[in-house]
Amino acid sequence: VFDHVVRAPEDPILGVTVAYNKDQSPIKLNLGVGAYRTEEGKPLVLNVVRQAEQTLVNDKSRVKEYLPIVGLAEFNKQSAKLIFGSDSPAIQENRVTTVQCLSGTGSLRVGGEFLAWHYLERTIYIPVPTWGNHPKVFTLAGLSVKTYRYYDPATRGLDFQGMLEDLNSAPAGAIVLLHACAHNPTGVDPTLEQWEQIRQLIRLKGLLPFFDSAYQGFASGSLDSDAQSVRIFVADGGECLVAQSYAKNMGLYGERVGALSIVCKNADVAGRVESQLKLVIRPMYSNPPIHGASIVAMILRDRDMYNEWTIELKGMADRIISMRHQLFEALLARGTPGDWSHIIKQIGMFTFTGLNSEQVAFMTREYHIYMTSDGRISMAGLSSTTVPHLADAIHAAVTR
Ligand code: LMR
Repeated sequence: VFDHVVRAPEDPILGVTVAYNKDQSPIKLNLGVGAYRTEEGKPLVLNVVRQAEQTLVNDKSRVKEYLPIVGLAEFNKQSAKLIFGSDSPAIQENRVTTVQCLSGTGSLRVGGEFLAWHYLERTIYIPVPTWGNHPKVFTLAGLSVKTYRYYDPATRGLDFQGMLEDLNSAPAGAIVLLHACAHNPTGVDPTLEQWEQIRQLIRLKGLLPFFDSAYQGFASGSLDSDAQSVRIFVADGGECLVAQSYAKNMGLYGERVGALSIVCKNADVAGRVESQLKLVIRPMYSNPPIHGASIVAMILRDRDMYNEWTIELKGMADRIISMRHQLFEALLARGTPGDWSHIIKQIGMFTFTGLNSEQVAFMTREYHIYMTSDGRISMAGLSSTTVPHLADAIHAAVTR
């Protein structure tokens, strides 16, 4: 009965790892998926996460009962404080509802489905380019996806005028997907002054901001600085949605732990919104898993653990920044044609190199370097030992 089923293509990001795993070469290098690696090229479990897990294991009173549909209450409370700030008036006024979801993707999907059910303007504007999963998540949630200009290939920076023009011509009420920081895949973020102009336009036009916050702490190394874009939108008293992920900043990729927050006009609306979110979640996966959320809640609640986390997080962010400098210097040293300064200007996990799909295919074929075909490389997957290999490959790709 399934004879008619055609083979689907691999995912453009996760499929890179599938191809990498099949490669037998000892020099192979995976710079596809955004997953942090140590200088030794190994996945990293943060010390503070191990410590939290140990405490959980030792606590014999812990059980494996179902969580409520909206997840672990302490996790939700701490997640809202993390993104909005502990002194956020919106939290104090109880007009934020936060529900635990399956990492960033699950939070976007639950938010998207809620909007498709309850929000009148079912169009969402996403930046060009954006994370490849965004259009799929929102289309399947029942929203109609349109785009706004974001990245200018000529400057390898922000097309700020294009962005403002496109948002200005969006229909009133349309939803706007914004990357809170460390835009994926470009590594190009608006400045705080530009965020303020974006905010004014969004509020003037009555658009609804939906933030994807997958890299809080990874852009600048500071959790507060990386939340500024979101916080200026909350400070003005208006509504917004935020999807948070702990995959990168706590290294909890496979635990699938994240949160969706909806900032409402008042506590009464927030309560009703939460009741409807439960109706979205229950038939989808019933209730979220307990382990990852327990780790996060413990780390966010305990002062010492929180401080330890910020130090480890800064360590990861600094190592990525150092990789940017090393790659930039290595290309300069090789006299590789072109201006590569965007490698050190862009922020977060990724560099949007400007390499085209043919050059990427060449680097994979000849150098066993794996990356997405749009020329994005995960700087977090590089190390001092592999920088020369990557620089050689880029040099060969642009001079052939
Ligand atoms: C990425 O962009 O590499 C990450 O967000 C991982 C993913 O799920 O695509």
